[in-house]
Amino acid sequence: MRIGIIGAMDEEIALYQAAMKKTTSSVRAGITYWEGILAGQNVVLCKSGVGKVNASVCTQILIDQYQVDRVIFTGVAGAVHPELEIGDIVVSTDCLQHDMDVTALGFQPGQIPYQEKWVWEADAELVRLAVRAGETIGGESRVIEGRILSGDQFLADREKVKRLYEQFSAHCTEMEGAAVAQVCAMNEIPFVIVRSMSDKADGSAHVNFVEFTKLAAERSFAIVSGMLQNMTPQSAQVIVYSTKGCIDCDLVKQYLKQRGIDHEVRDVMERQEYRDEVERFGFLGVPVTVVGDKAVKGYNPAELDQLLQKG
Ligand code: ADE
Repeated sequence: MRIGIIGAMDEEIALYQAAMKKTTSSVRAGITYWEGILAGQNVVLCKSGVGKVNASVCTQILIDQYQVDRVIFTGVAGAVHPELEIGDIVVSTDCLQHDMDVTALGFQPGQIPYQEKWVWEADAELVRLAVRAGETIGGESRVIEGRILSGDQFLADREKVKRLYEQFSAHCTEMEGAAVAQVCAMNEIPFVIVRSMSDKADGSAHVNFVEFTKLAAERSFAIVSGMLQNMTPQSAQVIVYSTKGCIDCDLVKQYLKQRGIDHEVRDVMERQEYRDEVERFGFLGVPVTVVGDKAVKGYNPAELDQLLQKG
């Protein structure tokens, strides 16, 4: 499994960059993508830039070119819910664009014309992982599940925020989440948005944003790292029993490499215990690919797909 991690600004991705191992980078559409390992998971990190267009392009490239299976957006937001404080964390239940306004033609606020769907639900398992990770990071900040609004506007107006809260029952506002969410939904990729409050989107927002963004980004990073740690570790989880000069063994390794799946190779000619392990799965020859207590013999992409999805 590969997990795409997106932040909009340098401050939002700096801690991830520092913590990632075995990193390689490549550039697409002017966006740098860093592939590597973070907390035992295969991740692709990128900085989308600010706003919905940047976020959409970045997410589609993550999916198409880097074949991520999950997307986590991490960063800061302005609180909309009156009870939220700076430093609190919102894990998205769903997202929508507050600046999509075609009400003059009879559409609902936020509704994308001629589309049945304009509210994008986050993946329940990713939400659960984020909330669980949030419970263990300590400190004063609360972790709350809620609706995230996105728009190409930095909000710094108490009255406008009040209206948005009443209109959408939202928890916070930012400038990318709903775009990431929509692109993920259109591609059937599970996503979650994790935002720490840097301000209250009111008259002090610009001051608070500068003051608290670093701290808020640290909180988001702590949660996402916790999420990754609580996922089944990918590295060393997949074992390929193989031997030299075996074409199918090479094909299996190539298959895993192309998908960015970390794996351990065990040459059965090197150790009796490796041959015993293969036998325990009921096989005699190689390659044998193992995930947990399940195994696939030979090179069969459809069977491997199934094995790795279950793993
Ligand atoms: N990101 C952080 N604070 C924000 C605000 N007040 N409006 C929009 N995006 C934000």
